[in-house]
Amino acid sequence: VASAPLNICGKRYATDENITNVTQSIVDLTGRGLHLKDSHPVGILRDAIETKLNSTDGAFKCYNEFQPVVSIYENFDSLGFPSDHPGRSKSDTYYINGEQLLRTHTSAHEMECFAHIQNGESKQSGFLISADVYRRDEIDRTHYPVFHQMEGCRLWMRNSRGDHIKQIQDDLSKLQSQLSQQKTKIIVQDDSSLEGNPKQAYMSHNEFELCSQHLKRSIELVVAEVFERKLESMRREKDLEIPSELKCRWIKAYFPWTAPSWEIEVWWQDDWLELCGCGLVQQEVLKNAGFPAESTISWAFGLGLDRIAMLLFEIPDIRLFWTQDERFHSQFQKGVISTFKPYSKYPGSTRDIAFWLPSDKDFKNIHTNDVMEIIRTTAGDLVENVKLIDQFTHPKKLKKSLCYRINYQSMDRNITNSEVNEIHNEVAKQLIETFDVEVR
Ligand code: PHE
Repeated sequence: VASAPLNICGKRYATDENITNVTQSIVDLTGRGLHLKDSHPVGILRDAIETKLNSTDGAFKCYNEFQPVVSIYENFDSLGFPSDHPGRSKSDTYYINGEQLLRTHTSAHEMECFAHIQNGESKQSGFLISADVYRRDEIDRTHYPVFHQMEGCRLWMRNSRGDHIKQIQDDLSKLQSQLSQQKTKIIVQDDSSLEGNPKQAYMSHNEFELCSQHLKRSIELVVAEVFERKLESMRREKDLEIPSELKCRWIKAYFPWTAPSWEIEVWWQDDWLELCGCGLVQQEVLKNAGFPAESTISWAFGLGLDRIAMLLFEIPDIRLFWTQDERFHSQFQKGVISTFKPYSKYPGSTRDIAFWLPSDKDFKNIHTNDVMEIIRTTAGDLVENVKLIDQFTHPKKLKKSLCYRINYQSMDRNITNSEVNEIHNEVAKQLIETFDVEVR
């Protein structure tokens, strides 16, 4: 069923009443290009990583302006996502219509960028893609429906003479020498066995070893560089004896389009911090990009820029990235990782909302992300946090009750109690209309 078309980044897209779950408040967040801004934490971090990765051999072509609308094929099918993969569900992903969605990851552009290498449009053997990505999720200090990722890929053409082996060896030794020049030493622990995470059969053991080492050392170089900058600024700002060692570990992971797959974690502030997923690219993806079967070997990684930027710049709330407040933007400058100095925070105001689910529906029929979406659509960036604080089933009436606690708080201005009441009433009204619930 057709409904009003959506205008996203200057293009019109048909919608479908039964499928579309992108709301206008999400559309309003497209095209902001935070990752392109020189003096925005996300932009500064992107620039730092691009510069470092290209300092070894300049192999990476940088794509930073892809539009956020992609096809379901690009986001999922071309990457080998099974048809029942949970990532495809409407509760997790913003669909525009039956064919298009807001990309959920930068991997959606891998096939296209590999194709540029295949058809000679790009002369470089690798690429980096940075972009805004969209996921339906909870509302709290670290989650926002839009965040930024950087994808990195590298590719070698195989030949029977084994020239590529020599090439990867050379590339790897350049990387290793660069790593050894970093002031911060990475202590790596490799916990990733290949059990249940095997190499692709077409690769020789040697190819596999070289390619995965090149991948791991490339990511370690990024980690060393980024955390080195942070440690340096901590030394400067806090005048502390700070160790110049960083503990990292490799663990196995699963992604439909890479095999084997790994994740790197960094020991930071007494916890393992998950930084980046990666792996050796499946032949299927490269075939979709036009390469003959088994003609290439390639690796890919994807890292979330916002979470790393929050940690490096000590940003307490992800919504700050989206503020227009000069007190935020004036603090950052190109190339510098500095500590954010909080300015006076406007007070927040908490409201609870409790409701009975209609008796013919069970909890499964109302997904928390759908409740979050209603709240976000109604209150926008005035919601700081939403928590499900209570749920119980009435033993006699066999009805289920849910209670959400919403904290309203603006990054940019004071909001009055009566304004909060008005918004909160509207949230209640929207919940009643959408889910047919009974407010308690
Ligand atoms: N796209 C993956 C994610 O969003 C990350 C990834 C990229 C993993 C490339 C492997 C290879 O989690």
